Amino acid sequence: MAIVSSKSGHFDPAPEKNTVQPQPPDPKLLQPEADEEERRPQSEDKIRPQRLSDYVGQRDLKEVLHIAIEAAKSRAEPLDHLLLYGPPGLGKTTISLILAAEMGVNCKVTSAPALERPRDIVGLLVNLQPGDILFIDEIHRLSRMSEELLYPAMEDFRLDITLGKGQSARTRSLDLKPFTLVGATTRVGALSSPLRDRFGFVQRLRFYEAEELSQIVRRTAGIFEVALQAEAALEIARRSRGTPRIANRLLKRVRDFAQVRASGSVTPAIAVEALELFNVDPCGLDWTDRRLLTVMIEHYQGGPVGLDTLAAATGEDSQTIEEVYEPYLLQIGYLNRTPRGRVATPAAWKHLGYSPPNEQMRML
Ligand SMILES: Nc1ncnc2c1ncn2[C@@H]1O[C@H](COP(=O)(O)OP(=O)(O)OP(=O)(O)O)[C@@H](O)[C@H]1O
Ligand SMILES: [Mg+2]
Repeated sequence: MAIVSSKSGHFDPAPEKNTVQPQPPDPKLLQPEADEEERRPQSEDKIRPQRLSDYVGQRDLKEVLHIAIEAAKSRAEPLDHLLLYGPPGLGKTTISLILAAEMGVNCKVTSAPALERPRDIVGLLVNLQPGDILFIDEIHRLSRMSEELLYPAMEDFRLDITLGKGQSARTRSLDLKPFTLVGATTRVGALSSPLRDRFGFVQRLRFYEAEELSQIVRRTAGIFEVALQAEAALEIARRSRGTPRIANRLLKRVRDFAQVRASGSVTPAIAVEALELFNVDPCGLDWTDRRLLTVMIEHYQGGPVGLDTLAAATGEDSQTIEEVYEPYLLQIGYLNRTPRGRVATPAAWKHLGYSPPNEQMRML
């Protein structure tokens, strides 16, 4: 197949005026619309670990990947397809880029909403080089048609494309180079089972321990050349909701604060002062977390309260509550999910300065 991988337009001669240029046979079908990889912000790249050995925490996952990488390399085969799931910011994109670096291949980064039309995914797949990694973020949001194109592509490195419509429709098979699909999702339950079953590995990312986050914060501070005391790193880590992305974000805010209000070097006291200013409490809860819990406690006596009711009462989107806020509140034991709805635990009542209901009863 003569498939040109360069961007359309690169080699086009300047169009002559008033002449109709002959149209090439729909090259767009085979071209990806946008290249997400090129749009990633630069500073994010600077602090992303590049190799598996720089990737902090997630011991089990690293072990699994280390074995898979060594085995695939020794057989000179691409890695098996990998599905990563877990809350946002825990390092799914980073893993995918690390895998590519360790395997010595390219990584194409995209996300399901950018692959709405089948031609988008066709374009990406046919342009992959042998062994390349295709990273699809939010893979649970793939359209049915794109998903169905993926099945033979994942299983047999083959694309079945239907050309034309109605009676004249023909199906053509295109051979693809062997590649590795890395899918990432915050909602593994929303994936269709045929898609989930085609992944060789399904791995969950866990929230990070404070000690691990502190290591990440110190590593990032080193890259930014910020003088940061170990205790200050731990303070930031404890308030980062188990999430590296948040840890790095808080470090940036603390760095700004130290630069403007202090000499630039970050002591634990400065870290605490800055984090208080940014409304991040000692457990890492931000304004929205506290509002969710406060509404449950004040308006619904701690629950149970349905997700949609909670969303309406707080003005937050229910999916955001479920995927972004709840996982950490569940993890630290401030929230329970019950068949009748969400419940704020006694620990949450106490954290927000309320007496939990059974204690109130005792005081009567
Ligand atoms: N294990 C880790 N060690 C060091 N830094 C990490 C680690 N995991 C993530 N990070 C840092 O956290 C940031 C966020 O990670 P990443 O973009 O991979 O998260 P993600 O899981 O893809 O998030 P999302 O679901 O929102 O796409 C990265 O910039 C990276 O620097
Ligand atoms: Mg990501």
